[in-house]
Amino acid sequence: MTEHDFIPPIYDANIDQGRITWESPSNIALVKYWGKKKDQIPENPSLSFTLNMCKTITTLSFIKKNDVDNAFSFDIYLDGALKEDFKPKIQTFFERIELYLPFLKLYHFKIETKNTFPHSSGIASSASGMSALALCLMSVEKQLLDADVIAGAVEESFDQEYFNQKASFLARLGSGSACRSIEGDLIVWGETKSIEGSTDLFGVKFPYPVHEDFKEYQDTILLVDKGEKQVSSTVGHNLMHNHPYAQNRFEQAHQNLESLKSILKTGDLEAFNALVESEALTLHAMMMTSMPYFILMKPNTLEIINRIWNFRQETGLNISFTLDAGANVHVLYPKRESQEILQFIKDELVGYCQNGHYICDQIGFGANQIQF
Ligand code: PMV
Repeated sequence: MTEHDFIPPIYDANIDQGRITWESPSNIALVKYWGKKKDQIPENPSLSFTLNMCKTITTLSFIKKNDVDNAFSFDIYLDGALKEDFKPKIQTFFERIELYLPFLKLYHFKIETKNTFPHSSGIASSASGMSALALCLMSVEKQLLDADVIAGAVEESFDQEYFNQKASFLARLGSGSACRSIEGDLIVWGETKSIEGSTDLFGVKFPYPVHEDFKEYQDTILLVDKGEKQVSSTVGHNLMHNHPYAQNRFEQAHQNLESLKSILKTGDLEAFNALVESEALTLHAMMMTSMPYFILMKPNTLEIINRIWNFRQETGLNISFTLDAGANVHVLYPKRESQEILQFIKDELVGYCQNGHYICDQIGFGANQIQF
């Protein structure tokens, strides 16, 4: 498959207006994507858990313009408030995807969005936000094609698999990790030989057996620092160009995915903990060793990590952590150990969170269209 497969047939766009709502989850990478080539093609493959509770809900209303001009026309609202500062990102997104959705300049769009997690929590909403918007746009395209099928203008619409692939493909062009937020609980993005069907173009469901322990795996997100991101993703990914350790890191991600494949099958939690923690620390090591260099962890991030290690050593429970490109800590553990581990989190870790804030999440199953 290539990107050309996502260029649709010419359609009439004979629908005047409509409204569609999707909710889409965030995700947390276990094997991290860090470094990209042109057109949001990842330098290395990644694998993520889909998060059930941290979602974006987006309603897209569209109305045909009276006069067709050569501009995108849209307004974006977060929690009911007009967000002019979100516009440049959406403008860039529309420019990147116009070839694949040629109706974009024919309509005025109203994008109304909200998150199930606080906007100022330090949790990036770009994955859930871009995937929710991509899904809404795909639903518009499907309506246009369905109308054309009925009118006999094109022969067939498309199936669910193609819908999801193209939604993921479009989401990727908004924010790389967003392509892992469309469907399924475990998602792979980026071509790698140990995972059949993996591709740089879009996220695919992890296609191999997964041990019971990894079903509904728990993720408690400790909000250590709710401030603005110190390094934007775009700047961060670019730091991997000419990075002295880049090639080894990209190679390591392929190897880690291969190892994870058997860990997920056998349920080897000790190996899982070691692999995900090493991935998290490697991501931060890449930032510390780039030029310019950054330290995104805060003192409390390190306090939490050390306490997790001590608790694991003392109890033998399967608690581990991963990190995003920030100071917050994702505490990972199997559901069957949640009682003791959640108690430990409340007793010993929550004190290190900003205002004591944390979010309990667990791995879930992807996006849903909401009908009104
Ligand atoms: O999707 P982006 O461009 O914001 O990049 C996300 C990168 C990490 O969150 C640090 C890792 C990942 O794979 O999600």
